[in-house]
Amino acid sequence: QPCGLLLAIESSCDETAAAVVDRSGQVLSSIVASQDELHARFGGVVPEIASRAHLERILPVIDEALKRAGKTLADLNAVAVMTEPGLVGSLLVGVTAAKTLAMVLDVPLVAVNHIHAHLYACRMQAGRDIFPAIGLVVSGGHTNLYDCASAISYTLLGSTIDDAAGEAFDKAAAMLGLPYPGGPWIAKAALTGNPRAYDFPRSFLRDERLAFSFSGLKTAVRYAAFGQPGTLNPPPPLTPERIADLAASFQEAAVDILVAKCRQALKRYGRRSLCIGGGVAANQRLRERLEELARKDRIEIVVAPLSLCTDNAAMGAIAWELLQAGQVSPLDVDVTPGLVR
Ligand code: KG4
Ligand code: ZN
Repeated sequence: QPCGLLLAIESSCDETAAAVVDRSGQVLSSIVASQDELHARFGGVVPEIASRAHLERILPVIDEALKRAGKTLADLNAVAVMTEPGLVGSLLVGVTAAKTLAMVLDVPLVAVNHIHAHLYACRMQAGRDIFPAIGLVVSGGHTNLYDCASAISYTLLGSTIDDAAGEAFDKAAAMLGLPYPGGPWIAKAALTGNPRAYDFPRSFLRDERLAFSFSGLKTAVRYAAFGQPGTLNPPPPLTPERIADLAASFQEAAVDILVAKCRQALKRYGRRSLCIGGGVAANQRLRERLEELARKDRIEIVVAPLSLCTDNAAMGAIAWELLQAGQVSPLDVDVTPGLVR
């Protein structure tokens, strides 16, 4: 059915998003209303503020997505919505809108796992089936490694035991006096720094477990920048040169960890391709190191394009695959805020 139209809705964290995607996977429109400016002064997402902003924005965002696609509600054949994981109040806004539309329009409702959708963004980028593969989702909220048997069959292999990778970038940036969200700023500062200036810890690097930890790295950056508590000789003040060296050394350690775990998972599960999604996938050094890995181990690497890396609704195109597999959701489907699977 080449003319089917899907409306996908995303409100799991702090972006209110809607997209219209046709049956062939073509994205006709993708609207993302960011709330960054509402949360910036708090240095992180405030759940109450996020859900209230979603409530104000969800209908205009849906309207805009339809308008940009040149479609109306009557043209829709299905409605998809991210139901997990995320902030409960945020998720509920998108899910309630999606249920209402599905009921009124009498079209199927498809519940989508937000993290699986991040990996499906790689499939959209490739424009062809890239599975089976190992998948890594690295964002401000997640550091999850998956074995992806197919476009809709994802097994969680491991995740972080403390901070998410993006969160570590953000916190390291904050310590160094760089703006929020800090990932891009660390990457920028690192360009002129020496990645070997500081020998920061790489947790689980030589460990069998497919798990991540970034809190030790974060503490090491703090001590290197400001000295260990009780030290008699504090380090010199933070000059732009020291900031660059600290940023480069931090980034190198974080990237080392991510690349090493992907490599371990690829070997263990005998997969030949690797998909990467989420905001940290935008990191240039990570991309370079993955390309190195791809050449050395002769595997294929698919990184989601920038527009599909950060939170968006277009990646809800995975719903077409779910529909094909008969995975329609009941109208009383619930949100699953905390569980990552
Ligand atoms: O996927 P995303 O937009 O939002 C969620 O967290 O869901 O990811 C945002 C995260 C932030 O922590 C941000 O600092 C990080 O991605 N990020 C980066 C880069 N660009 C964004 N981290 C490292 N290097 C980058 N170039
Ligand atoms: Zn996300």
